Amino acid sequence: MRILRSRGDLGELDRLRGARPLVLVPTMGALHEGHLSLVRRAAAEGPVVVSIFVNPAQFGPGEDYAAYPRDLDRDLALLEPLGPAAVFVPDVATVYPQAGGVTVQPGRRAEGLCGAGRAGHFTGVLTVVAKLFGLVRPDLAVFGRKDAQQCLVIAEMVRDLMLPVRLVDAPTVREPDGLAMSSRNRYLDGDARRRALCLSRALGQARRLIDGGERRTAAVTAAMTEILGESDLVEYAAVRRLKDWSEPQRLSGPTLLAVAARVEPARLIDNLVLDITGAGASERPLLGAGDGP
Ligand code: PAJ
Repeated sequence: MRILRSRGDLGELDRLRGARPLVLVPTMGALHEGHLSLVRRAAAEGPVVVSIFVNPAQFGPGEDYAAYPRDLDRDLALLEPLGPAAVFVPDVATVYPQAGGVTVQPGRRAEGLCGAGRAGHFTGVLTVVAKLFGLVRPDLAVFGRKDAQQCLVIAEMVRDLMLPVRLVDAPTVREPDGLAMSSRNRYLDGDARRRALCLSRALGQARRLIDGGERRTAAVTAAMTEILGESDLVEYAAVRRLKDWSEPQRLSGPTLLAVAARVEPARLIDNLVLDITGAGASERPLLGAGDGP
């Protein structure tokens, strides 16, 4: 496992380019089993580069950039047994060599949900992901379904800027009690950890209603919002059609159900991606099935 830090170091990746796709897994570190599942998924395709970079551009003022957990030694120890070819750990000056550089404006799928409450967040995400694609030049990149809107916003960028990279989304890894794994879960103490379960419970209730035949979006979002009331602040309980990012009045077809809430001092998100038919619903990936970007 090579540790690469500078642009010059990335030349070492050239010997990995060949018959099998070179696969990038971008992360901000503080790795957990969710990240590791992406690395395993990536390793099934070809040699893997994991990037670890806490990207200042995607944190708003007052967000947790300074406090974001950083523990490179631990991250490297977790990655080593998975056998990635390289870990790319650039510093801020390598990724942002000059102030006021070009940024990437997100498309339609940045509207609403996290795009509404976190001004500039997806511009920061797209700018760094575009730079990582330019630096590493992967054939394939793996992202988590956990950050569904992020994944779709990136897929729109790849489509609209015609970037030569394929994307795969991997399922959300959860704690045994249902809480979606997140680097920010370590901010939660006993009571907050318990209340954090309201996100996955809200999605579970939505799923039960849909399985029971409910197709009115308003009824499903109201049920989710009620359960999210256990948090400190409900940010959203939202439904979007994957195909065109519209808000349907009735649920049908490939659909994202997404929730976000503050459970102090953390801001948590979770979601469910469903194919909804008259007969029932089943979980599905975000990308690659011909719906959406
Ligand atoms: P980070 O939050 O570190 O997440 C890195 C990747 O891990 C993302 O694709 C995310 O969706 C995925 N991930 C996080 N929790 C997961 C879980 N419980 N199960 C499965 N996958 C999970 O997302 C970012 O970093 C950044 O925005 C980044 C894309 C690296 C750009 O800076």
